[in-house]
Amino acid sequence: MLNPFDIVIFGGGGDLALRKLLPAMYRAYQEGNLPQGSRILPTVREESKRAEYIETAHEALKEFLSKGEFNAKDWKAFSACLVPVVTNVTEADDDWDKLKAILDEHDVSKSRVFYLSLPPAVYGSCCEILSSKGLITETSRVVVEKPIGYCGNSAEEINAKIAEFFKEDQIFRIDHYLGKETVQNLMALRFSNSLFENMWDAKSIDNIQISLSETVGLESRAGFYDKAGALRDMVQNHLLQLLCLVAMESPNKLNANSIRTEKLKVLESLRPLMSTDVDDNIVRGQYVPGDLDGKIVPGYLEELNEGSSKTETFVAIRAHIDNWRWAGVPFYLRTGKRMAKRCAEIVVEYKKVSHNVYGDNVGKIEPNRLVIRLQPEETIQLTLMSKRLDNLEMQLEPVTMNIELSQAYSNGFHSDAYKRLMLDAAANNPSLFIHRDEVRQAWKWIDPIVERWQEKGNPSLYRAGSWGPDDADELLAEKNHVWFNTGDKA
Ligand code: BG6
Repeated sequence: MLNPFDIVIFGGGGDLALRKLLPAMYRAYQEGNLPQGSRILPTVREESKRAEYIETAHEALKEFLSKGEFNAKDWKAFSACLVPVVTNVTEADDDWDKLKAILDEHDVSKSRVFYLSLPPAVYGSCCEILSSKGLITETSRVVVEKPIGYCGNSAEEINAKIAEFFKEDQIFRIDHYLGKETVQNLMALRFSNSLFENMWDAKSIDNIQISLSETVGLESRAGFYDKAGALRDMVQNHLLQLLCLVAMESPNKLNANSIRTEKLKVLESLRPLMSTDVDDNIVRGQYVPGDLDGKIVPGYLEELNEGSSKTETFVAIRAHIDNWRWAGVPFYLRTGKRMAKRCAEIVVEYKKVSHNVYGDNVGKIEPNRLVIRLQPEETIQLTLMSKRLDNLEMQLEPVTMNIELSQAYSNGFHSDAYKRLMLDAAANNPSLFIHRDEVRQAWKWIDPIVERWQEKGNPSLYRAGSWGPDDADELLAEKNHVWFNTGDKA
């Protein structure tokens, strides 16, 4: 069992804290995973906000927890763990001494987690004040959110600044996708089943698709999103991390160092896409108004309330990993907002049979396909060819084995990536966090794409509610491949 800890949430009144971090801690409490004596210290900028914080948290939990999770009894006990405090993260004033005094009321060996739910621009000043005011103890850790920086250089600057005050093993860089139970199941599937592992390479696999499609649009994040775009917001982190987990070699052990070493090797083997490679292998898109679930939704520019913007809300990439295992296998990475369905899924398309012994009259022999759906439902589907059993003729057809993981476990456990990651940070378990070298390597691959886009071209338009621009289909058609869109028959 985890020891009690203190977690200071800088930016405690912000969207992330109210929507994700507080519900995560509340769930931890409800499951008995918030050790007694732990404290949650959300920071706000003004005394008036501090005074009303408990009520703010109350409202946020009622709004953002799932149906049936909130109840008055648990809230009463949970709210007793909340200690709102005032701090200004850019000014080393007396409020920081008050925060220190509160933390120092407890044993100095108690874990302290400083969660920077703040814009990256103030990470440096916040860490500097934590240090100058003497809040960083041996058992302190800092958690920072993605995206780290806007490019390789800015990420390096941020990482270097944090490193002035915290050692690398005290820095926990979050990518919430890694906290999803289903994403960890990906490793379980690969490394505890010889069935797949023996057929997980260029000899057996024709192509792999990783798609993260969303139906939401800007969600009042216009200021951030228009500067970032889908490449920085989703590809640089979530998609590349998933790619690493799908493509990496088996780590020697399931510990942070071994996993990171293998992930880093994948990032290092990603074939660089420079200059015209970018035009040939990447499609970027932006949504225009369209029909989503029977409603007409506005386009990106309307949501943004601007006449023009080149920001991409969709990206599709044909990537290659130049190593022994994956030589010649295209990895198609795709993400977009306002797409037809919300879904995160990995589709592994196996090679066609080497020789068709049946001739042409038995139906088409489809390649085997493994679909690992991470959300919204958690399923694993394997499509095999089979003889139709309802007649004497030899007729083949694809049949699908469907494992619905969410139905397999119904003990009330609420899978929540932030809960898992916050508790891991408190327990000093960095396996699911990102090392500085991974951030550096990921940007090294992304930077030339951004540069090329700044020089040339515009996003292709796609209707909200569709699967992205036509160019994305053409990207696959060039190699005789087709996107597997969720809802398609597996
Ligand atoms: C975040 C992105 O990291 O991930 C958002 O900033 C995106 O733009 C979100 O909507 C998607 O996360 P999930 O867990 O809902 O798939």
